[in-house]
Amino acid sequence: MQQDKHVFCQTVDSLNSSGSFRVLVGVTGSVAALKLPVLVDQLLQLPGVDVRVVTTEHAKHFYNHAEVAAKIYSDQDEWELWKQRSDPVLHIELRRWADLFVIAPLDANTLGKISNGICDNLLTCVVRAWDTSRPLLFCPAMNTAMWLHPITAQQISRLKEFGYVEIPCISKKLVCGDEGKGAMAEVSTIISVVEQHLHVLTEESQQKTDITK
Ligand SMILES: Cc1cc2nc3c(=O)[nH]c(=O)nc-3n(C[C@H](O)[C@H](O)[C@H](O)COP(=O)(O)O)c2cc1C
Repeated sequence: MQQDKHVFCQTVDSLNSSGSFRVLVGVTGSVAALKLPVLVDQLLQLPGVDVRVVTTEHAKHFYNHAEVAAKIYSDQDEWELWKQRSDPVLHIELRRWADLFVIAPLDANTLGKISNGICDNLLTCVVRAWDTSRPLLFCPAMNTAMWLHPITAQQISRLKEFGYVEIPCISKKLVCGDEGKGAMAEVSTIISVVEQHLHVLTEESQQKTDITK
């Protein structure tokens, strides 16, 4: 019981953040998840940005937890945190915390789930509960053959209909040896799109301040 209380406090305390912009990074089971440590480092270099990560179980195979400079949440945290009615629900706390959600990489499996409203893990629950007035960016990443399957285009347009913003994948030689479209956008591209959205959020919050003066 004492152990449970400790986990509970640690998990919730890490959502007390000092940054002006709170960026939640979602990471799924694509080989491009190897880039998570670099992506987090570069996001943290943006002024006032605070970062948290939500991971799927399969994504954990691709990065070293110790190299990621932000708190990482996974399914286990969701279920350890909630024991009784008065306890917070992690996917709701995360959607409240974040100003912007960027899913990088978004693999074919989670793309399929999100486009159909499925929410069977922490990451997809955050997506399903997401406040669509806030930006949700997604960076598809998959093998070219998966990318070319006709269902991919349908599912990507579904996400765009929901108001989510695609950061398109690029063509290059993939880790599996195939060459073609399906590689995740470069980290520098992702950072610049996040930056553009943060500028818009700054302007909106400035306008709100001006109105209340
Ligand atoms: C080595 C390896 C690399 C993979 N790379 C990708 C990938 O780049 N894109 C993709 O859509 N799936 C990829 N997969 C398959 C996903 O990991 C698999 O569909 C998994 O169920 C995804 O689970 P998640 O969406 O819950 O993270 C890869 C699998 C392995 C074993």
